[in-house]
Amino acid sequence: MPALLIHASLLLTLAAAICAQAPDQRLPIEHDDFGLPQRSASWLPYAAAEGHVCNRIFRQLYLAECIPTAVAAALPREHTDAKQFFAAGWYFKKRKGEERDRRWFGGDGRQLPAEGLPQPAATQLKNWLQQIDGDVTNELLSRPRAAVWFQHDLLRFARRLLDVKQNPELVQPLLACAHRVALPRQVLLSSSVRTTTLEDVATKIPGFDQRRCIEVARNSSRLFDAEYVQLWSTIHLVIPELQREAVIAWLTAGDQRTPLAMHTVALLMQGIVAIDDQGKPCATDLVIEARTQRLSNRDPLAFDNPTTTRDGVDFAMWSLARETVRDTDSSVHNVPFTSFRSIDMESQALFRDYGSRKHTTYAAQCALCHRRSNTPDEAIAGFSALRTSSQPAPAKPGARRRLAEREMLRFLDKLRAK
Ligand code: HEC
Repeated sequence: MPALLIHASLLLTLAAAICAQAPDQRLPIEHDDFGLPQRSASWLPYAAAEGHVCNRIFRQLYLAECIPTAVAAALPREHTDAKQFFAAGWYFKKRKGEERDRRWFGGDGRQLPAEGLPQPAATQLKNWLQQIDGDVTNELLSRPRAAVWFQHDLLRFARRLLDVKQNPELVQPLLACAHRVALPRQVLLSSSVRTTTLEDVATKIPGFDQRRCIEVARNSSRLFDAEYVQLWSTIHLVIPELQREAVIAWLTAGDQRTPLAMHTVALLMQGIVAIDDQGKPCATDLVIEARTQRLSNRDPLAFDNPTTTRDGVDFAMWSLARETVRDTDSSVHNVPFTSFRSIDMESQALFRDYGSRKHTTYAAQCALCHRRSNTPDEAIAGFSALRTSSQPAPAKPGARRRLAEREMLRFLDKLRAK
């Protein structure tokens, strides 16, 4: 065969192999909307069958086309000269969203774009919730991880409806459905719901020596209160060169604390607080997200400061996809951290921390609260849990999970009173 033909047939084989792969669910890095969901992607988080009722409910809640209230200047299409743009306050800059900013948001991740449903969709959701019963429920309960996560999706949307004061008629059906998919406590506490563990994550993070790491107890902001987020969260801190005792001494020295050492790393882990079949909150081992923060330098904020915040702090984030859980057999004792999706900090999403929807990059969103410079307390370099007002202290094992269960109970009491 002439060389040219061999070449052509090779190319064809290659092209066929690429087409055979599932199309990417998110827009690629070259795209102006890097990271937003592909319009044509199919989302099948709970079952391989497109029309499975859990998939339908998920898509109703986790995918939405909307005009964001605000559009951040950090989006590459929103600023022309990056050199000038990355100056003090870059993460605050934004403008009001307009028709041309209409986009498709969400997907299999943490961002819940829905803020209440218009009438036909709300009635449809109610019907779908009723279909979660009998065989559908039994099949779901045979996959504990999927059942816990699906319940979390329902409760999270119920919380959203309370927050935005929309669709009060959906709150009880959501709660009732969450009860129908509840598992016995002994299953919730078993390895059949476990995903990754601190040990597993720690070994994958450069500079994170678990033998020297301490868990930080602190007063949480709302962002980490299970009454509002239905998740527990733990923070683990490693300060280079310091042994545990020295880290504790630093942590509790109050005003005497020296500036945080270079290359300090904090790891944040978040997992689902489920409700068991008796209606009681249960903090499970179903970890869905891990984030790290690292102090990389104390150079001035500038375009060429090669860190996420552009003033010295680096972030990394890993999120577990429901689809990964869908494909993991429940007899497996965990879902390895290596199967979590690493999130590019320059990718984009719709965030909703202060009650209005903003289209921005992960980097700009994280820098908002975690910038190192231009803050009253530069010594802690944007490590929020270390603020004196958070009263950081060494945590007792399991205390954060018990706290999250008590917070979750407050939420359930509110829901049940509706
Ligand atoms: C609205 C403010 C806010 C935003 C936005 C935010 N965080 Fe945080 N973050 C906090 C607070 C407050 C804490 C301290 C924990 C607590 O309150 O219990 C924290 C804690 C953390 C920690 C543990 C170390 C520390 O600083 O205490 C990490 C890691 C972290 N966040 C990563 C991120 C990443 C990555 C992003 C971007 C996706 C992000 N955060 C966005 C407020 C925020």
